[in-house]
Amino acid sequence: MFDAARFVDEQVASLRKTLDRMAVIAVSGGVDSTTAAALAAKAVGEKLFAVYVDTGMMRKGETADVEGTLRGLGIRHVVVHAEDRFFTALAGVADPEQKRHLIGNLFIRIFEEEAVKVGAAYLVQGTIAPDWIESGGQLRDRIKSHHNVAGLPDTMKLQLVEPLRDLYKDEVRQLARALGVRVAERQPFPGPALAVRCLGVVTPEKIEIVRQACAIVEEEIEAAAAAGTLTLPWQYFGVLLPVRSVGVHGDLRVYGHTVAVRAVQSVDGMTAEYARLPHEVLDRISVRITNEVRDVSRVVYDVSHKPPATIEWE
Ligand code: XMP
Repeated sequence: MFDAARFVDEQVASLRKTLDRMAVIAVSGGVDSTTAAALAAKAVGEKLFAVYVDTGMMRKGETADVEGTLRGLGIRHVVVHAEDRFFTALAGVADPEQKRHLIGNLFIRIFEEEAVKVGAAYLVQGTIAPDWIESGGQLRDRIKSHHNVAGLPDTMKLQLVEPLRDLYKDEVRQLARALGVRVAERQPFPGPALAVRCLGVVTPEKIEIVRQACAIVEEEIEAAAAAGTLTLPWQYFGVLLPVRSVGVHGDLRVYGHTVAVRAVQSVDGMTAEYARLPHEVLDRISVRITNEVRDVSRVVYDVSHKPPATIEWE
């Protein structure tokens, strides 16, 4: 049984010993990195500096939310606007692993730039157990390179500190609650952000489509959960497929994009079942996406379990 209060005491003591100089932490706004930041701030306070990178691939409203959270936790921070750098690095790249590596590497380079500015010696990361297990060790196949693990270049100058690396998602949530972190109940979000929900080559236009689709899926599912129509799934989002199909808008033939809706129940993300969403909720999502998101004319629902599918599509 995980004892969050004891974990906090042990990690605070350990981090105080380890972090003898400035540390930067990469905060994405997700539960893992925000919890790691809250823990490290409790341990070393002024010696911690948070870096939030706007890659241009974040969820709707994310940048403002993260700033608010960091301010609320009293953590010194910077918001780096790196949208152009990420879109340039990803231009023309379709392979999922290559996308993950490019994003991870650019992230680390940006952290290093910010770390130099504040004279940091350490990089604190919110890596959790499934990240490194699924990134492949001696005994396991690489399933996908979770970007906070596989993106680290061999030449990295910062020393890596990962206080959550033995925890699973449900334990991180317990820890977040114990630390009073506001995002504790937030659904998981992948490190490479919307880049892995836009299958194949990423462009600002496609990211905008998937950003809007994800926001609609979130709004409708959360509204249905609040109304008691369904139990909130563990994770729920939209994916822009590299598939166009024929449709009709009024009297006109269109050749539009396809969005897949994904909603799963899980405990720790290692296995998952697709969520049996009520048809009226799927219907509202479909109507809103095809009405509100430009150039999308088809919506499909993913009924795959993990395994054999993974939760994200890339
Ligand atoms: P998969 O798609 O592997 O995802 O079944 C399992 C859980 O992990 C999230 N995910 C990531 N989290 N960095 C992360 O921190 C990543 O690169 C990453 N890729 C996937 C995914 O959203 C799901 O909750």
